[in-house]
Amino acid sequence: MKYGVLGTGGVAQTIAGKLIELGHEVMMGSRTATNENAVKWTKTHGDKAKCGTFADAAAFGERVFLTVQGIHSIEALKAAGVENLKNKILIDLTNPYIYKDGHITLDSNYSGETCLGIEVQKFLPDTKVVKTLNFIGAMMMTDPEKKLSEPVTSFYCGNDTEAKEAVKKILNDFGWSDTFDMGDISMSRYTEMLGAFWVPVYGQLGSMQWGFKLVRTPK
Ligand SMILES: NC(=O)c1ccc[n+]([C@@H]2O[C@H](COP(=O)([O-])OP(=O)(O)OC[C@H]3O[C@@H](n4cnc5c(N)ncnc54)[C@H](OP(=O)(O)O)[C@@H]3O)[C@@H](O)[C@H]2O)c1
Repeated sequence: MKYGVLGTGGVAQTIAGKLIELGHEVMMGSRTATNENAVKWTKTHGDKAKCGTFADAAAFGERVFLTVQGIHSIEALKAAGVENLKNKILIDLTNPYIYKDGHITLDSNYSGETCLGIEVQKFLPDTKVVKTLNFIGAMMMTDPEKKLSEPVTSFYCGNDTEAKEAVKKILNDFGWSDTFDMGDISMSRYTEMLGAFWVPVYGQLGSMQWGFKLVRTPK
């Protein structure tokens, strides 16, 4: 399948690399067509790896990952083009964090009555937005079970049941055996808060190599 990955940072590199490993074609998108990280990434990932602008990647992908700095998600999606994303699944991994004085706050445009996942879905009414993987370190987003002593849980949420099923399958392909459907896209407010909780734990542990596990009573 063809995937667009909007972003060129650590998360984009992890996701795009795993998609290539799984045999997909991937275009990494950026504010410029010749972003240094993206060009370097294409050179090391074979002929199924391409790069371009946000709009090029959004048009290329049958499914698209959103992996930009969260406070700029809407700006990046504007550049990607609403029409280029119409009727597609957008897998949103972003968080609207402001880092100040050693602490995280949620950007005021994406907190209180709303959150980033909700605003992304509002901005793209004809796109099926599914939020996931925003509460764990980039290196753990793929093959978590090869890096830990036991499975951890991947939460996901979105309004469209089929899109969520497709994303659950992608998570399984990425190496997650334990997934948990949180409900509709409004639930992303909680996974965005969970991602904020992740940061100070990471600070204390000094390692990204951990995750959250949902321990439940067997039915
Ligand atoms: N890093 C982690 O471990 C981790 C874990 C969970 C969730 N997340 C979330 O995943 C997302 C990506 O994180 P990251 O650490 O990989 O990278 P990042 O440094 O947060 O974001 C880099 C990307 O943001 C884009 N960007 C920056 N300013 C922009 C603007 N004004 N307009 C449009 N795009 C802009 C950059 O575009 P260019 O390519 O054009 O430079 C680049 O592609 C974030 O939302 C983060 O909260 C990160």
